[in-house]
Amino acid sequence: MNEHTLIIIKPDGLQRHLVGKILQYFEDANLNIDQCYIDTMTDDVLRAHYSQVVDKPFFPELKTYMQSGPCFFAIISGENAVARVRAIEGNTDPLKAERGTIRSDFGTSLNYNLVHGSDSVEHAKVEIARFFGPQPA
Ligand code: TYD
Ligand code: MG
Repeated sequence: MNEHTLIIIKPDGLQRHLVGKILQYFEDANLNIDQCYIDTMTDDVLRAHYSQVVDKPFFPELKTYMQSGPCFFAIISGENAVARVRAIEGNTDPLKAERGTIRSDFGTSLNYNLVHGSDSVEHAKVEIARFFGPQPA
């Protein structure tokens, strides 16, 4: 099924000049980059985006990390894009991620795992609307 999903390249990805290399992983998998922009996350948007983990002990560090510079936001589409993007990104913990995934190849630790990808079709819709506004049906 053709799907759309949201990816975020976190601030260290831009600081380390990895945006081009990271996008290449998605293009090599025949996925499309439909829309993109670069911006720094505001407190409100960050809290909404990470609403499932705001009460976790690691949230303050995650917040500092995510606001340490601008992020790169993109809508990625293609066959089974939601699950395939997550697979290309790899395990949340780069040290546990399979070799050849973005997080394994470039991520440095669980807290600094370089990329985000929506975890379901339903969440992808919400996240795309949050960062790119309402989309045509
Ligand atoms: P989560 O949604 O569990 O992971 P994923 O990004 O793979 O969907 O967690 C959101 C982010 O929170 C995760 O990318 C990195 C950060 N995080 C930590 O810093 N420490 C942790 O122990 C966990 C579970 C997540
Ligand atoms: Mg998640």
